[in-house]
Amino acid sequence: MTDGVSSRVSAVRVIAAVIGKGQTLEAALLAARPSLADRAMVQSLVFGVLRFGHRLSRVATALVSRSWDSQTPELRALLLLGLYQLEYSGTPPHAAVNTIVAAARLVGEQKAAGMVNACLRRYQRERARLLDLADETLAGRTSHPIWLVEAYQRDWPAYAVPMLAAANEHPPLTLRANVRKGSVEALAAELAADGHVTMRVPGAPDALILETPIDVRGLPAFIEGRCSVQDAAAQCAVPLLAARAGMRVLDACAAPGGKTGHLLEATPGLTEVVALDIDQGRAGRIQENLTRLGLEATILIGDATDPSLLLGQRFDRILIDAPCSGTGVIRRHPDIKWLRRPGDLQALADRQLALLATLWPLLAPGGRLLYATCSLLKSENRQVIRAFFRQFPDAIDVTESASLAIGDMAHTEPADGPGIALLPGMAGVDGFYYACLERRCD
Ligand SMILES: C[S@@+](CC[C@H](N)C(=O)[O-])C[C@H]1O[C@@H](n2cnc3c(N)ncnc32)[C@H](O)[C@@H]1O
Repeated sequence: MTDGVSSRVSAVRVIAAVIGKGQTLEAALLAARPSLADRAMVQSLVFGVLRFGHRLSRVATALVSRSWDSQTPELRALLLLGLYQLEYSGTPPHAAVNTIVAAARLVGEQKAAGMVNACLRRYQRERARLLDLADETLAGRTSHPIWLVEAYQRDWPAYAVPMLAAANEHPPLTLRANVRKGSVEALAAELAADGHVTMRVPGAPDALILETPIDVRGLPAFIEGRCSVQDAAAQCAVPLLAARAGMRVLDACAAPGGKTGHLLEATPGLTEVVALDIDQGRAGRIQENLTRLGLEATILIGDATDPSLLLGQRFDRILIDAPCSGTGVIRRHPDIKWLRRPGDLQALADRQLALLATLWPLLAPGGRLLYATCSLLKSENRQVIRAFFRQFPDAIDVTESASLAIGDMAHTEPADGPGIALLPGMAGVDGFYYACLERRCD
């Protein structure tokens, strides 16, 4: 196969699976099984197209004669990938066009190869006009679906533009030191000795950002369980939960165990941590992660909204890291822009409230429940918590005092509450929402 064509063929198959067949990027990459030699290139092309594809679709719509949505997923993927190569990837123009035309023949679009060639060449001639057209709206300029732009403008009018821009950036690789096995300073020194530059994160004392991301699977500190990969925003859950020795803790949506691991590392002497998840496959990863870190928890597979599952049990702390739209982590999962629909939001909010309502009665009086999402949408965050308060008058919002433990990480005003949001584009971290709720003693 000509140079670079096999990676383009794999990339087209992955992109088509996400934008045309609704597969997640993770599943589509697994199914495409690119060769080892192509893997990094396929990742980079696919992430790029999913990040900038909403802008490029507007260009492509102006280039094709039939309606964009009526084209096959493969043809749409070919054009988006070709435009991405010409506009963003630094591929020399002749190679950008030739690899895509060659790939067209190999993904069953041989009849369209001429049309793809003509569209990409026309883009080269009319680039400025076509980009002006795409950039007429904020959704086009920032390459997001219109409904999401409108939701951010409604929910975060002052921050929407930097939030949208941040979602297109390459995320940093952030490590979490396993403080049971060594300090964050010792980890930084070990990494520096190997030539890695790291930065601390104010408000997340166990976090270290690597200036240049690496594959941690080859890092001795990772292999030996002295660190994990976790964004600094997710590392705020443990200080906000504020568990102490002697407590029983429920991590109700635990897989793959990122926060369970952090909790156990940071809080020696807990009586028990129950790590629950509904997904058997994902729950297996909790055990894998804890074994690597040298930690133990009681792992349960089940539905946390089933009241009979933990009947009669009491917990001093409960963490609900709820399933959500994932809009706070789009920079890490750009397929969210393509897969999420506005119609998903009500079902998510219903599930989030059901988790809160089922688990609240298990909280000991005086105990604390931390509700977390990696969503930026108020419909999954403060609206859920407001609905929860209407149902449970024995709940008190203690987020404001609890959030002293994470310094200036949150960027929301009290009027945005209850709860706090960490907004991407403000602190360089993923988007997250946290609400700390305590149960009255009387
Ligand atoms: C945001 S992820 C959790 C991430 C995890 N806390 C971590 O830090 O690694 C949400 C998890 O909730 C689980 N989940 C969804 N609905 C659930 C339910 N009804 N009961 C228990 N787990 C559920 C999903 O399988 C998923 O693993």
